[in-house]
Amino acid sequence: MKSSSFKSLLTTALALFVASSSFAQKFEGLALTPPMGWNSWNTFATNINEELIIGVADAMIENGMRDAGYVHINLDDGWMMMERDENGDLVPDPEKFPNGLKHLADYLHERGFKFGVYGDAGSKTCAGYPGNMGHEYQDARKYAEWGVDYLKYDWCYTGERNAKEAYTTMRDALYAAGRPVVFSMCEWGTAEPWLWAQDVGHLWRTTGDIISCYDCTQEWSMGWKKILDLQMSLNPGLKGLEEYAGPGHWNDPDMMEVGNHGISLEESRSHFSLWCILAAPLIAGNDVRDMTPEVTAILTNAEAIAINQDPLGKQGTRIYQDDEKEIWIKYLENNDFAVCVLNASDEPRETSLQWEQFQNHFSTWNTNYEIRDIWDAQNIGTTDEHAEVSKMLAPHAVMLYRLSFLEKTK
Ligand code: GLA
Repeated sequence: MKSSSFKSLLTTALALFVASSSFAQKFEGLALTPPMGWNSWNTFATNINEELIIGVADAMIENGMRDAGYVHINLDDGWMMMERDENGDLVPDPEKFPNGLKHLADYLHERGFKFGVYGDAGSKTCAGYPGNMGHEYQDARKYAEWGVDYLKYDWCYTGERNAKEAYTTMRDALYAAGRPVVFSMCEWGTAEPWLWAQDVGHLWRTTGDIISCYDCTQEWSMGWKKILDLQMSLNPGLKGLEEYAGPGHWNDPDMMEVGNHGISLEESRSHFSLWCILAAPLIAGNDVRDMTPEVTAILTNAEAIAINQDPLGKQGTRIYQDDEKEIWIKYLENNDFAVCVLNASDEPRETSLQWEQFQNHFSTWNTNYEIRDIWDAQNIGTTDEHAEVSKMLAPHAVMLYRLSFLEKTK
């Protein structure tokens, strides 16, 4: 072969490689703030159907959740038939979804929601339905055909599969199918996805499953306080997982149990407040068709949500902890920040917070801030006027403040 034609062959090969590798990416520009929505698993497990999902969507319009930002409605495990069809396609269970998933997606899209489904990187899902392994591209095309906008991708029955490779394959399949999909990796943190998944998914689970209690443990499931603590201890070293989160790529401490049995109203409010501080995806997991006004008020609190959805996308961190009290902070835009103080004891306690405690954490702590009590919905003065704030907190309750930057004072 003449060297000039060899060169042109090389150039063509290189061009092809560049073209094909341009597929090797996730959908950018999605989940620039933590995704918000609802998922069926925490309350309904595999007992899901079209009527339920439509009821949930209608309720979320009625109770203000959709307008507060909860736009993703996601099916979890149990939506499909136990076998693929003769073409190897996944089939929605016709008893549960008699009109198919496209029909359901259309219903949701017409009302301003996005539609999500669940899959698994192994041979079976955790509940034993067909997994996506070996069918990734075919399944991704089906999702696109149905109008799927969000995929939660689980990690059961994966044998010796390498997590990074398996999730990257599904990412590429989704990208090739062409319909933008938020890719939610549910690998439970076993392969430390925070270290490598920024370019693979938009969010990744960091732990085993959440259950509806404060700090209980059941096999590999646990209450929200246990999961909260793990966000600070999974990353070797002094800091938590916060350095790995940011716009388009989030640590996911699992779907919320706010409003579910087994946790008090105060614990629900604390769970929500701390998920806001963590910049966690806010995926409700309760029966939103049947919740008390108090629970609705927690889930739809616009000022708490604004902390979670702050455009800087900074995950908060714990700056103080003893047996009775924890202090969590989250940086916000315009030099504001949020602070959440948890009564971590099992007794009611007068709990206080002195601003001078922050000096080590803020290079900018020579400033005056307006103090806004989020749950009491009132401004209580400035940090120059009050050296501390203090409240009687029920067991496991929080106080949540937004500190709005006023001026440098020194
Ligand atoms: C795993 C996941 C859960 C849920 C179930 C479904 O346990 O971590 O969030 O999706 O599977 O079977």
